[in-house]
This record gives sequence, C-alpha cells and structure tokens, in this order.
Amino acid sequence: MTTQELAEQLILTINGQQIHLKQVSPTQTLLHYLQESGRTGTKEGCGDGDCGACTVVLVGGDLDGQPIYQAVNSCLIPLGSLAGREVITVEGISNGQLHPVQLAMVETGGSQCGYCTPGFVMSMFAAYYNGVVDDAAVEGNLCRCTGYVPIRRAAQLMANPTPCDHFTEKLQHSVSLTPLSYITNDQEFYRPTELEDVFSLLQQHPTATLIAGGTDLGLEMSHHRQSFPVLISLEAIAELHEIHETADVLEIGAAVPLSQIENRLHGIFPSLDEMLHWFAARQVKNRATLGGNIGTASPIGDLPPVLLSLDAQLRIGSASGQRTIALAEFFKGYRMTDLQAGEVIVSVRIPKTIAPGATRRLSQSYKIGKRGTDDISIVAAAFTIDLDGNNQIVSARLAYGGVAATPVRAIAVEEMLLGQTWNAATVQAAKAALKDTFTPLTDLRGSAAYCKLLIANLFEKFFVEVQ
Ligand SMILES: Cc1cc2nc3c(=O)[nH]c(=O)nc-3n(C[C@H](O)[C@H](O)[C@H](O)COP(=O)(O)OP(=O)(O)OC[C@H]3O[C@@H](n4cnc5c(N)ncnc54)[C@H](O)[C@@H]3O)c2cc1C
Ligand code: FES
Ligand code: FES
Repeated sequence: MTTQELAEQLILTINGQQIHLKQVSPTQTLLHYLQESGRTGTKEGCGDGDCGACTVVLVGGDLDGQPIYQAVNSCLIPLGSLAGREVITVEGISNGQLHPVQLAMVETGGSQCGYCTPGFVMSMFAAYYNGVVDDAAVEGNLCRCTGYVPIRRAAQLMANPTPCDHFTEKLQHSVSLTPLSYITNDQEFYRPTELEDVFSLLQQHPTATLIAGGTDLGLEMSHHRQSFPVLISLEAIAELHEIHETADVLEIGAAVPLSQIENRLHGIFPSLDEMLHWFAARQVKNRATLGGNIGTASPIGDLPPVLLSLDAQLRIGSASGQRTIALAEFFKGYRMTDLQAGEVIVSVRIPKTIAPGATRRLSQSYKIGKRGTDDISIVAAAFTIDLDGNNQIVSARLAYGGVAATPVRAIAVEEMLLGQTWNAATVQAAKAALKDTFTPLTDLRGSAAYCKLLIANLFEKFFVEVQ
C-alpha cells in the first residue's frame, strides 16, 4: 500500500490476536484502548509516562533489523503508531502457567496491592528475552507498597536468563513497518516509509504535526489536552534510523530511539553516555528520539546541552532540498526554532575531531534533578575543553539547559577561557563569571539563586573530576 491509498482499518496484533479497528481515533492511547476492550491487566497510574504501571512490550527491531522486545509505556503510545505492530500485555505471557518472571515475583514476595505488578512484570519480561534482567530494567516502574528490595531480588533471580520458548521463537522473524494513511472523520494519521513522502505530505498538510517516539506528544494525547487533526509519523523512515560513523564525524538519524544510541554508540562521547544514563527510564528511551528532543525545543531538554558542547550540527530536509545548521543557531527563543514550514530534522552530526592545535579533550555532562533517574533537570550542563601540549585552552564550549528560554552556551565565559592555562585559578575566574552569565527563573524545580550556584559549581565539579 502506498501512502496515497487510504486505510479504513488500523490493524495491530495484541497477544497473538489480530485486531481490526475502524473509525477509532489514531490518537487514542494504547492504554485506553486496552482498558476499554476489557484488557484490564495493564494499569493506569499517572498517565504521564512516569510510573510504569501501564508497561507493555512491543515486538520491535534494533538498528540492524534484529527483532527485540521493547518495554514501553502504553499511556504514551497512540494507536496510529501501532499499525502493523505486535503488542504483548501481561494477559499474554502466562500460557497456562506463570511465566518465569511472574514466578520470580511470587517467590520473592514482590507484590502487595499488586497495582504496579503487571508493569514490573512486563519490564522484566522484555529484559528476560533481551538477556539481562537488572535494576535498569525496572527503573521506570514505581511501587508504593512492596518496597524495592523483594522486586530487585526477583530481578536477581533471573539475572542471566537463557530463555527458550515460543517468545524466543517470535524473535526469529524481523519486523518491518508498512506505509499507513489512516483517516477518520476528523483525524488523519500518516506513516510513510520514504522521506520524500514526508516532505510531500507536509506540503499537502502544512499544519500537520510530526510524531517520532511520541513521548512528548503522547502526554497531550494521554490527557486529551490537545487534538492533532493531522499527524505524520517518522517511525518507518529508514533514512531517519541510520547511523554513519567516519574518522571525523558521527551522524545519528533523527528517529533513532535513545536506547539504541545508548547501546550502539557507547564509549564514543563520554558526555553523551553520561546524559543518556540519567535520561528518563527504559520505557521512555525505547521510544524517545534525538530529533524529538531537539524538535520539542524545551529549555530543559537534556541532550541539547550535550550536543551544543560537542558542536553538533543538524541536517534538515524539505521538499526543496537539504541544509545544515549549527545546533547553536537552531534555538531562536522559548520553544521556537529555526525549522521552517515543511522541514524535518533528518540527522545530527557530531564532529569527532578535537580543535586544531589541541592534543587532548576533556568532556563531560551533568544533570541535577530532584531524584536520580526519571526526573526533569533543574540544571543540565555539558562542558568540552580542548587543550594543547602546554595545558592551554584551545577551545571551550560550556552549555546549559534549564537556565534560560533555550538550551544555551556561555559564550562570554568560553571566550574568556581561550588561551588560559587549565588550572584552578582559571576555573575560579570562570566560576565567578558564570554566576552572572544567565538569569534563571525561580520555579517548581528550584530557586534562581540555587540554579546560579549550580551553573558555576558544576564547572568546578567538572574541573575536579577530569583532573
Ligand atoms: C516520563 C518521561 C520522562 C522524560 N524524561 C526526559 C529526560 O530525562 N530528559 C529530557 O530531555 N526529556 C525527557 N522527556 C521528554 C521526551 O522523552 C524527550 O523530549 C524525547 O526525546 C522526545 O522524543 P520523541 O521522539 O518522543 O518526540 P515526539 O513526542 O515524537 O515529538 C516531540 C516534538 O518534536 C517534533 N519532532 C520530532 N521529531 C522531529 C524531527 N525529526 N524533525 C522535526 N521535528 C520533530 C515533534 O513534532 C514534536 O513537536 C521525558 C518524557 C517523559 C514522558
Ligand atoms: S500510567 Fe504511569 S507510566 Fe503510564
Ligand atoms: S505492590 Fe502496591 S504499588 Fe506496588
């Protein structure tokens, strides 16, 4: 089917059963559909992607097309994104007797009221078939009553699983998404497979909204706060899922899920590894994309500071061609970007080379939030300093999130650092200047005074840690 042929049905598979949906809103969340259709094992806690009670598993593919199980928050996924896909819910895993992950939860007493249990079980189910069941597998799941010790024990019981059952067999068949044009009375959902089709759809529907992982847009759908008459999904565009690496540049497709970046590109940029470690939880990272984190233009997006400090560029495409822009020039104001009508972020290019004349690079990122994982940043910071053989600063990029209307670099302080010797005195002078560089707001995340302290102190922390 081409994107021009209209689908009257949304077809998806839930627990092995093919479901044909007609005239259902493509922005109805999977969670609401599951509950309305009597599949009430999947629970709703927050409806915001924060608690993991609604976790289900998608049969997805990694960047090589290898099938994998992905734990995701069903409260954030619109039905349109699931066309042609297979979903496994807690009702589908027991096959007459408890699944090993359910047995482990029973054995360790990992459940009291049981409300969170299906979510924990599904997170562990995905991890079980992907080979490692550990704390990270359940970091996106909250429990109010059992306490985490028995749940962690359940995970430990399956630490190195060697599964062999019909769920492992399912992973023998690769998953490929077909094009979709689904139209109801008042909504249109397109999922093309070619970038050119995205551009022509944007010409036909100039006010359409692009959706990638939907972890930002899904919040609006979950609570019906906003309607989306026309959505264009980027999920099936192969070009947006490519990663290219040369000696000089790493280029990451805008729709590569963050968990794939974390797994595949670990060790290339320490500051990116560090920020991805603290970025949301597994269920969100299995869907969230780099293009979405940049496209949403949030002043507290965590990856833009890292990418700014690494001097990243964006490749942007439209029907009239492609252009490249430095990320530093992309953010124009609060939630405003340089993206013009009809344009799509295609990829992010990160230079791997250090500045001319430099012999070594120091680079790291920091995220300060109220809790360790799965929280928004109070301040995020990323620093990249290139030094020559005499320990003099050849290049400096100090980037922050949460301190201004956009992710931003401390340009004046960067200029002040150039040519200076990298030592405690230089860092103290920069620290003093950093305190007055931005005027953060006092809000629920923290006071302006606290943010100012963080802006300065994080740079000193960087100096101490990289020595
Ligand atoms: C529970 C939870 C925790 C979170 N934790 C974090 C966190 O720790 N740090 C953080 O920074 N964010 C966090 N987020 C926010 C969100 O996950 C990220 O911003 C994510 O990267 C968005 O990517 P996405 O693909 O899901 O975007 P989507 O929701 O699909 O899209 C977001 C926006 O970007 C636009 N867009 C998407 N792709 C493109 C493209 N290729 N070209 C142009 N525009 C595009 C869309 O039109 C939309 O306006 C969290 C969200 C949730 C629900
Ligand atoms: S209901 Fe809380 S993450 Fe979905
Ligand atoms: S067992 Fe009650 S919330 Fe976890």
